[in-house]
Amino acid sequence: MTAAPQTPGIRLDAPAPGWAISADVVVVGSGVAGLTTALGCAAAGLSTVVVTKARLDDGSTRWAQGGIAAALGEGDTPEQHLADTLVAGAGLCDEEAVRTLVTEGPGAVHRLIAAGAHFDTSADGVIELTREGGHHRRRIAHAGGDATGVEISRALVEAVRDAGLRTIENALVLDLLTDAAGRTAGVSLHVMGEGQHDGVGAVHAPAVVLATGGMGQVFAATTNPAVSTGDGVALALRAGAEVSDLEFVQFHPTVLFLGTESEGQQPLVSEAVRGEGAHLVDASGVRFLLGQHELAELAPRDIVAKAIMRRMREQDADHMYLDARHFGAAMWERRFPTILAACRAHGIDPVTEPVPVAPAAHYASGGVRTDLHGRTTVPGLWACGEVACTGVHGANRLASNSLLEGLVFAERIAADIAALAPLTAGEPKSPDGLSALPPIAPEARAAIQRIMSLGAGVLRSDDSLRQAAAALEEVHRATADDGEKIPEPGVESWETANLLCVARVLTAAALEREETRGCHWREDRPDRAAADWDRHLVVRMAPDRSLVVTRTDSTAFPPTVLREHQP
Ligand code: SIN
Repeated sequence: MTAAPQTPGIRLDAPAPGWAISADVVVVGSGVAGLTTALGCAAAGLSTVVVTKARLDDGSTRWAQGGIAAALGEGDTPEQHLADTLVAGAGLCDEEAVRTLVTEGPGAVHRLIAAGAHFDTSADGVIELTREGGHHRRRIAHAGGDATGVEISRALVEAVRDAGLRTIENALVLDLLTDAAGRTAGVSLHVMGEGQHDGVGAVHAPAVVLATGGMGQVFAATTNPAVSTGDGVALALRAGAEVSDLEFVQFHPTVLFLGTESEGQQPLVSEAVRGEGAHLVDASGVRFLLGQHELAELAPRDIVAKAIMRRMREQDADHMYLDARHFGAAMWERRFPTILAACRAHGIDPVTEPVPVAPAAHYASGGVRTDLHGRTTVPGLWACGEVACTGVHGANRLASNSLLEGLVFAERIAADIAALAPLTAGEPKSPDGLSALPPIAPEARAAIQRIMSLGAGVLRSDDSLRQAAAALEEVHRATADDGEKIPEPGVESWETANLLCVARVLTAAALEREETRGCHWREDRPDRAAADWDRHLVVRMAPDRSLVVTRTDSTAFPPTVLREHQP
């Protein structure tokens, strides 16, 4: 592990913890990454606490539809999965990380099945596999047709309950705690509502694993649930950790279009629908992806999203259509019951009419920078799943690699922590010496989301990003310069501070990367600039809240300073 960068000495403005419990490991988040890590740590005999923001099954995992990609089918190999992943990642995947993912993936899926997850199988018991964008073969295992995440979540929550793990639900984690020697000593958190612990408290532990999921709520329209407010990335930055590749936000091409004013979580229409033969068409029924890519509608996600955006612009339309009427009612009901119900709930019947779709924010390909054991640049802090940047996704995640990444790297993290045990930490230092970041008024959330969708969305430019950066600073200044506007510390205002923090970093990175690559689409820099930009952008926070942006190749720790973005 590398030495920790100097911590910025920043914390959220919150009351001192009024209660505390202790454990060997605290896992923050309860999706596939968090629960798999927790189960692995507990199985290794480590006392483990899971802290989660809502209920155990309320994270992003349960919303996953398409499935989990792994070389499970006859004739498929990890090498082929590796090749597809590298192509999607547009030159920025860490090949060793991808090799780890694809070789350990099939075993991890079988262990998940052994833990109780039921995948769809044929009559003779063979796992059914589907296709999604960027995969050259059927490689996606699914459950309940299009309810893969629900099933994985169910199985893992049940396993956690059976194992008797300590869990704290409805708890927003605030900051990393450290001891006098700067070692990780746990987390502070705020528990909402009734329960054994209420208000601000602490879990003291020498090992902290962030598995807090994504940050889709930083945009006005997203497939992510309400809990995805970038809390883990913001916490890691305040703790002095490096984050990487945040400019690579994946916009899912086919999200049910509910109108231009529709905000918050939007219903996903899985790529697996295209994998089973649905066509993307414009209002005249023309399949506009034919001839644009050898895989047509099953091209990697960024290519499909861009093709949709271009067609929308050419035709001055605000959405396109996904046509799968030829599936017929029986197939829709058996294979895509969740999507069918969501469409019908909004008055659209995919059996008889094309489904209106448009791209929306879906997945953060970047996150807290980790090595192959999930270790971050802060000793004692690990990160797993969407909150992490393992190097697996590069500039654009391959469809259905995310559940797999959560599984594989969770197993590695649990093994790493178990191998390091017993870890020790002293008493957590009082946070009094740290500068307190003011909470941001919850009313600013909608403004942040609008700023980001307008300036740092699927299409970006130097101009739009500069305007977004200035508007975000104005949101901060409006609170910081006017004491009366500083809201009472509380869950919504802390979340809004986290959203503002990740929005700033994302915008700074997107401004810095002067090229188009993967899911980062700069209108003013339409080409990929390989020689200059076969590199990653790494960001950390300085004590004055400025962002230190550096450029590095995938393995060079620590990177050299490029530029500082003043607050
Ligand atoms: C989908 O089902 O289209 C989403 C899969 C993913 O994001 O990997």
